[in-house]
Amino acid sequence: MEVVIVPDAKAGGELIAEAVAQLLRRKPDALLGVATGSTPLPVYEALTAKVRAGELDASAARIAQLDEYVGLPAGHPESYRATVLREVVEPLGLGPGSFMGPDGSAEDVQAACAAYDAALASAGGVDLQLLGIGTDGHIGFNEPCSSLASRTRIKTLTEQTIKDNARFFDGDVGQVPRHVITQGIGTILEARHLVLLATGEGKADAVAATVEGPVAAVVPASALQRHPHATVVVDEAAASKL
Ligand code: GLP
Repeated sequence: MEVVIVPDAKAGGELIAEAVAQLLRRKPDALLGVATGSTPLPVYEALTAKVRAGELDASAARIAQLDEYVGLPAGHPESYRATVLREVVEPLGLGPGSFMGPDGSAEDVQAACAAYDAALASAGGVDLQLLGIGTDGHIGFNEPCSSLASRTRIKTLTEQTIKDNARFFDGDVGQVPRHVITQGIGTILEARHLVLLATGEGKADAVAATVEGPVAAVVPASALQRHPHATVVVDEAAASKL
């Protein structure tokens, strides 16, 4: 695992956007796994800036979602599908056909999970998976004690994650869905390159446990220690407990 400490979130975004740009120059139709939440926004902004400045042709890029809420009405602006379309797919000028994600409104959720794992594999696997981290060390929506070998499946959110994510639902914990579909930790580990970005003091404990603690299901992100090509990019605040 490589740990890179950058001065602030903007610098982290630029560093990761450059890694994505290098990948797309080498492999224009690379499959990029993207995360939601506020942390990766500087990456998407820096990447979009490169495309708009004509420095990067991302037109053949393919985008894969990491996770999704279950049961939000179709088109809800906080569904992760709508979020990824708004924050990544549209700014990069890609069409909806370039994008894949799990179906959070499927009647048979288990079948939708298996179908998503199969779709990722038949797309050739994820080339670079961008990850954020929850304050409790979760990646995607793999909450503490998720199996390190898990596949895409339905999960129940912890009270902590419901509280953390209420800010996207008018601060109302009652509006946050209780169930989600997430790529499993085993699924995530199949990506060729994992890049985790963490910024702010609130992530310092989770980052320390991820980087310096034992590999343990209680800290899902610690599974990155087992990956042959994992990069953890942290700002000084998130690195403060290393
Ligand atoms: C959610 C997402 C994660 C994300 C986390 C942290 O739980 N499922 O993928 O890493 O939020 O979000 P933020 O970056 O806003 O702190």
